[in-house]
Amino acid sequence: MKGKVIVITGGASGMGAAMAKEFTALGAKVAVYDLDDQKGNALVEEVGSSNLRYYKVDVTNKQAIEEATEKVEQQFGALTSWVNSAGVSEMAPFLESSEALWDLTMNVNLKATFLCCQTAITRMLKHGGGQILNMSSLSGKKASSWQTVYCASKFGVQGLTQSIAKEFADQHIRVNSICPGIVYTEMWEKLKHQYAKKRDLDPEEVMDYFKSNIPMHRLVDLQDVIHAAVFLLTDQSSYLTGQSINLVGGEWMD
Ligand SMILES: NC(=O)c1ccc[n+]([C@@H]2O[C@H](COP(=O)([O-])OP(=O)(O)OC[C@H]3O[C@@H](n4cnc5c(N)ncnc54)[C@H](O)[C@@H]3O)[C@@H](O)[C@H]2O)c1
Repeated sequence: MKGKVIVITGGASGMGAAMAKEFTALGAKVAVYDLDDQKGNALVEEVGSSNLRYYKVDVTNKQAIEEATEKVEQQFGALTSWVNSAGVSEMAPFLESSEALWDLTMNVNLKATFLCCQTAITRMLKHGGGQILNMSSLSGKKASSWQTVYCASKFGVQGLTQSIAKEFADQHIRVNSICPGIVYTEMWEKLKHQYAKKRDLDPEEVMDYFKSNIPMHRLVDLQDVIHAAVFLLTDQSSYLTGQSINLVGGEWMD
């Protein structure tokens, strides 16, 4: 990862933060875009390296993305790689899913990925190429009740990833996605209560319920995500574009 300049959206928490720490340790320069100042600043303090910086950026705002990326290139050099990990998720029965939930989910999960890919690719074309990794989900491939809005956004991320990959395949820009099952981040701290309601479970039983239904009987580890991300952002995967890696312990095979 040495020599790479990587933007990670949603990098103050969960998988984004885990990737930010590991990529910095592996020698990359990492810019974290997030809205959560407390977590972003805590991450910078924890890592304690001038090669990791936090930028307050609302990734649904094109101008904010552009301005931050201009600063990143001034401070770190030419952008080589971009990870879209910012995301939101709520579980609700379809008929109780509000228009506000639709707008928020589509804006953060899908529109922001579209905007960030445009900013990244505009710059990568000037530098001769790059790699983009979009955090999709098993919900980008498999339907779930009570997750209609989230599934629609992540199915959209799959279409976006594949179409952009095709358009820029001959310009040294590779675009792939990761589709994890359940990763126990802050997202699931909240979601487990909603899922418990759906299945009439105790919230503390939810993770064991999932594990029992996964062929490998465990959830996704942050290390699983990091290994797949390093693979997709380096020349180890030089002939892969428009692909997705399912991190699902055997639960889904398409
Ligand atoms: N946790 C899971 O089980 C799981 C599974 C599959 C896919 N995913 C996807 O992976 C990604 C990361 O998930 P996570 O579990 O690490 O989530 P998380 O909630 O821990 O982190 C998401 C981050 O995105 C940031 N964010 C939200 N809206 C933003 C905005 N408008 N601008 C900038 N930052 C914003 C949040 O502040 C937060 O720091 C998401 O796209 C999620 O949908 C998660």
